[in-house]
Amino acid sequence: MKSIDIIVDGQIYSATKGSLLIDLLIKNDLKVPYFCYHEALGADGNCRMCMVEIEGQKRPQIACDTLIKDNMIVKTKGEMIDGVHRDVLELELVNHPVDCPVCDQAGECKLQDFYMDYGLYDSKIDVAEKVKHEKHIDLGSSVMLDQERCVLCARCTRFTSNITKTHELGIIGRGDHARVSTMPGKKLDNPYAMNVVDLCPVGALTSKDFRFAQRVWFLTSTPSICQGCAKGCNIYVDHNKLKYKDEKIYRFRPRRNDEVNGHFICDEGRLSYKSLQEERQEFMEIDGREATLGEVLGRYDTLLKSSENIVILADANLYIEELEKIISYADSIGAKLYTPMESYVDEEFGDDWLRSSMRASNAKGVEMLSIADKIPDEKISLLIDFNHPDAKSIEAEHTISMRTHSDSGKSDIVLPLASYLQSSGKIINEDGIEQFSDRVLECSEPVATVSEWISILSRADIGGEV
Ligand code: SF4
Ligand code: SF4
Ligand code: FES
Repeated sequence: MKSIDIIVDGQIYSATKGSLLIDLLIKNDLKVPYFCYHEALGADGNCRMCMVEIEGQKRPQIACDTLIKDNMIVKTKGEMIDGVHRDVLELELVNHPVDCPVCDQAGECKLQDFYMDYGLYDSKIDVAEKVKHEKHIDLGSSVMLDQERCVLCARCTRFTSNITKTHELGIIGRGDHARVSTMPGKKLDNPYAMNVVDLCPVGALTSKDFRFAQRVWFLTSTPSICQGCAKGCNIYVDHNKLKYKDEKIYRFRPRRNDEVNGHFICDEGRLSYKSLQEERQEFMEIDGREATLGEVLGRYDTLLKSSENIVILADANLYIEELEKIISYADSIGAKLYTPMESYVDEEFGDDWLRSSMRASNAKGVEMLSIADKIPDEKISLLIDFNHPDAKSIEAEHTISMRTHSDSGKSDIVLPLASYLQSSGKIINEDGIEQFSDRVLECSEPVATVSEWISILSRADIGGEV
């Protein structure tokens, strides 16, 4: 398509002829209010909020349904168009319950934002006249609906019709009585259902998991990568540190990456932050009792010196840098390194969209580093495990386990390991895309990462000071 120049608010912008005007406005951070348009769902033209003034047109036009043409002169602000935005907003708010003090969307609600930008009018209607709808409707396993807060933008219904094609949601009724509802006999229940919560521009759809858990303005959002499967969806980790407590994660949200996950993530990945924080291995242990670092290093030294056939297991979710450290460590102590892959395969989980049946986020990295898969059937005198899920089932005379989570497996030494959000590095997703993830969480008593444990253990090995 041809590139042309158009004028928006007195400035010249280079644009693609025939493309949507709203995309140009969004791309260039030109403020235009909108509810129903979404880059993943396309234009629907139902909310009428995105009105702009176009020279030569008698009436204001919606930017989400206007194609860019030669010699276009557009105004997104000014007395006339600001008045249009205000009037459309007033219409949207006629029956809105204004639940802001108790609404989970407060702080990230488009109605609030637009009211502050374009509204600030004295309402012409009496609260008593408002049309009431149902509140607290349980839509399925993960989402609640408040019909009164809905602005009928149809993003949620278009998501279930056009993206998941599961068709659970629709808009029923006419005029003031129009409302979002599930189709008769259906629940909103598909592996991607919670994306409607992010799509909803207001507080009509809320996540059961996040409701009332935390005010959004207390949260810090840090970019990261989901480790639920080999897709490596991009996420925001929303976390908060309360006084005298460790940092806590409250939710994962999708982060746009058109090469990997577009605008969405699956529900299981979204909720995986919970298991990340539960049943963590917190202490160093020797023979099942809590131990000091000095005791651990003494036992480690003895085990290393008395063992002939040492095998190391590495989790296929570890970062490339961590795996490289493990490779050098294995060389330095004469151990053989393996990452058995079979237990990471979950055919039931995989689908033809985002979810991959390979549940290890860095399976490709393991392959690229040529780490062996199958452990030969021979007697192992010392097994050193870096958080591999199969470690418990492998027989060895002695075991040293570095674990993120406590488990019932017996080990001579257990060391608590940092989770992927407490460490940093690269993973390579199933399509060969390399992605870097920075450390997200700081702990008041830091748990060592793979690299840190290796350097602590290596110093013990050469008899140096710890
Ligand atoms: S529930 Fe939310 S996403 Fe669905 S139509 Fe209403 S405002 Fe739009
Ligand atoms: S598809 Fe995989 S990487 Fe993406 S959110 Fe789900 S579990 Fe995480
Ligand atoms: S965003 Fe254009 S009409 Fe809704």
